Amino acid sequence: MAAEWVGCEDHGVVRIVRIERPDRLNALNEAVLQALGEALDGAVRDGVRALVVTGAGDRAFSAGADLDEWENISFADAYRRLELGQRVFQRLAAGPIPAVAAVNGYALGGGMELALACHVRLASRRAAFGLPEPRLGMIPGFGGTQRLPRVVGWGRAAEILLTGRRVPAEEALAIGLVTAVHEEDALLPEALALAQHIAEQSPVSLRMILTALYGGSDLPVERGLLVERLVGAAAASSADQREGVAAFRARRPPRFGPADGAATDPSGQAQPSGGKEGEG
Ligand code: COA
Repeated sequence: MAAEWVGCEDHGVVRIVRIERPDRLNALNEAVLQALGEALDGAVRDGVRALVVTGAGDRAFSAGADLDEWENISFADAYRRLELGQRVFQRLAAGPIPAVAAVNGYALGGGMELALACHVRLASRRAAFGLPEPRLGMIPGFGGTQRLPRVVGWGRAAEILLTGRRVPAEEALAIGLVTAVHEEDALLPEALALAQHIAEQSPVSLRMILTALYGGSDLPVERGLLVERLVGAAAASSADQREGVAAFRARRPPRFGPADGAATDPSGQAQPSGGKEGEG
């Protein structure tokens, strides 16, 4: 059922998660949102090291919430649907798997919010971002009002949110909404290469960096530094750290195992990293 809406394609330890609804410009109905949530759970279960999130077809990353589901909607249904979208996108943003958005066309409304929930965003030249909700009598409710200012700053976010205007790829690059713009054909290979590079780093480090970045950055600086110290000590006393330093000493590439055992054992007694064939 889920595979009907969201496709997964593995490239070693990197998984491409693709919204498969090109005839509707990958609009996010409830089934798609549920399938995205299942895909994220599956990625964690399968020990995926990095994700590339994209949309099927050559027109859209996603044109946002499926408006067919929002006509004559009650407060209770709208609230529940917003909760679903927020939960799934927060699941992505909170990690533990780093996610690269490959924005291959329209990223409007919930589509832009999905990109904002990823940790790194790349765009194709034809990508166009926007939060058109005010024209619909709605507001971005899958995290847009919260994540956009954190990415581009309050001033730019307010202007984009209040006008609902389109932001073309080059402007998205200029304001830091994306970190690179690629030719259409190059977008997915570039996103995969970036995700693969990320996936070669220590999974413990990646998880701890995401924890410090997202769990610490909204706190007063002293508390943010405390979070950084705590997760920094957890990383430094992990099996990954022992492997990373040993590899440095031996002048060889590190071989990191799955994050779980090492990351969740604050004593640092986790099983040594196994490393998978072809890594490092
Ligand atoms: N919800 C439901 N269906 C959508 C959709 C959405 N958000 N976005 C696009 N579609 C559907 C269209 O209804 C159309 O279906 P049809 O072929 O059955 O008529 C199909 O996808 C193709 O879209 P279309 O509008 O014909 O393409 P276009 O090139 O003329 O315009 C957009 C593309 C993205 C500019 C336009 O589809 C659009 O504005 N979509 C809504 C974006 C939006 O407001 N999102 C936020 C929702 S809160």
